[in-house]
Amino acid sequence: MPILEVKNIKKNFENTEVLKDISFDLEEGQTLSIIGSSGSGKTTLLRCLNFLETPDEGTITVRGKQLLDGANPITDPKTLRENRKHFGLVFQQFNLFPQYTALENVTLAPILHSDASMKDSIIEKGKELLAEMGLSDRMNNYPHQLSGGQQQRVAIARALAMEPDILCFDEPTSALDPELTGEVLRVIRELASRHTTMIIVTHEMAFARDVADIAIFMDNGIILEQGPAKELINNPKEERTKQFLSSLNDR
Ligand SMILES: Nc1ncnc2c1ncn2[C@@H]1O[C@H](COP(=O)(O)OP(=O)(O)OP(=O)(O)O)[C@@H](O)[C@H]1O
Ligand SMILES: [Mg+2]
Repeated sequence: MPILEVKNIKKNFENTEVLKDISFDLEEGQTLSIIGSSGSGKTTLLRCLNFLETPDEGTITVRGKQLLDGANPITDPKTLRENRKHFGLVFQQFNLFPQYTALENVTLAPILHSDASMKDSIIEKGKELLAEMGLSDRMNNYPHQLSGGQQQRVAIARALAMEPDILCFDEPTSALDPELTGEVLRVIRELASRHTTMIIVTHEMAFARDVADIAIFMDNGIILEQGPAKELINNPKEERTKQFLSSLNDR
């Protein structure tokens, strides 16, 4: 059974159909990369998966449990909160809480979501996660005292601290200089090698090809092509995918 089953997701904004009929599966431990030109609907799809948008139609199922049916949305806040926990999201712009240290950013949500007796172990776990991100000596720094790459690694630790089934990234390196991009990609590569289930929207084609197991090419609200990442990126079948990839190579 796939860890994630997305079926027939549709989403309109006013009169624009942004997601037309999106379906795909993801197996546990695999990494999926989503590529496609600007405006093709990649962020909207991730936001639907993370319950930041409600699709108009379609279903999202994790480990066999249907979490969302666009035609019959959940309104109970407690169920919504529970369902959200299956996904973690790392944004392009880090979105750390500026008034909290790196460690507090990582531990805040898990502490809020569990009882007081868990606090010490959550803090220990937060320290471990930050250490894994290469930030042992930065735990007590505030976001403004950290580089963009360090902030993004805190954001990744924060997402992991909630132990999501699926970790999603929306262009995690596009706000970073090339040098800092490398350190964030290394961390994501390491997560992939440990079989963290991930969905990564990225414009870094070499990274998508090397790290992802499967890739999806989105065009104008549909999945135009999907398959093994190496095959899709090295030998795309659809004319539109070829055009998109060669436009990136021309830059
Ligand atoms: N809240 C919104 N209200 C109205 N239209 C929206 C909204 N969010 C996104 N859109 C539109 O939906 C389409 C898809 O946007 P989306 O951000 O999902 O694209 P994307 O593939 O992530 O693009 P990019 O590569 O530039 O990040 C765009 O035409 C965008 O203008
Ligand atoms: Mg986007």
